Amino acid sequence: MLELKTVNTSYDFLQILWDVSLNVDDGEFVALIGPNGAGKTTTLRTIAGLLSPKSGEVLFKGRSIGALPAHEVSRMGISYISEELNLFTDMSVRENLLLGAYAVNDRKQELETLDFVYHLFPRLKEREKQLSGTMSGGERKMLAIARGMMSNPELLLVDEPSLGLAPHLTHDVFRALLELRQRGVTILLVEQNVNATLEITDRAYILEHGRIAMEGPSKEMKANEHVRNAYLGI
Ligand SMILES: Nc1ncnc2c1ncn2[C@@H]1O[C@H](COP(=O)(O)OP(=O)(O)O)[C@@H](O)[C@H]1O
Ligand SMILES: [Mg+2]
Repeated sequence: MLELKTVNTSYDFLQILWDVSLNVDDGEFVALIGPNGAGKTTTLRTIAGLLSPKSGEVLFKGRSIGALPAHEVSRMGISYISEELNLFTDMSVRENLLLGAYAVNDRKQELETLDFVYHLFPRLKEREKQLSGTMSGGERKMLAIARGMMSNPELLLVDEPSLGLAPHLTHDVFRALLELRQRGVTILLVEQNVNATLEITDRAYILEHGRIAMEGPSKEMKANEHVRNAYLGI
């Protein structure tokens, strides 16, 4: 579904990604892990069309999307949930969710998707009329993920959803991602919570200094000595 071929991305003259190649198959749940500053967010921004690669290719369902602007990438079925969340704080939960469905023209489908995300995140249903700016950090994070689902994406890019969350909320967010995956959504997840991430994903890539340092099934990664030393503290 998604393939990056020797992607190089720079901010002005500062090159961050070096020949990054990775792929995510239809229905797969793939993790991208690595230390702070490794280039994980830069990778997601490159896929989402917020940055264009200096060289290399980004393919989505066989089509080259590297040169497309973010709104076109989003219309093709890729939803990017950034760390910043970008919610409308003076609008309600429900209004924020419906804004996420801006590209959906079918009102019935829109309401069905709304029901589905309320099922995934019952707390959002309870707070549907609350202004998003008055919600807790965990609730806002769930709202951002739920909003990303409102466009019925085929591929979800999620950047560090557990950042700053209490463990029980991290658990809720991961449970929701697993349920999305069970419903056929393909997910590329960036995380620093390596232990929990390797528990729930199929495969993982490790990005270090802008290069893919390792890749493999998540189970095998958990047993790998470098991963255990550098990321799991074992
Ligand atoms: N807008 C920017 N301009 C210049 N450098 C940036 C910008 N955003 C990030 N960087 C740099 O790019 C590198 C990778 O950042 P990032 O992709 O955010 O890493 P990660 O998400 O893995 O922590 C870091 O060294 C960071 O300082
Ligand atoms: Mg980041």
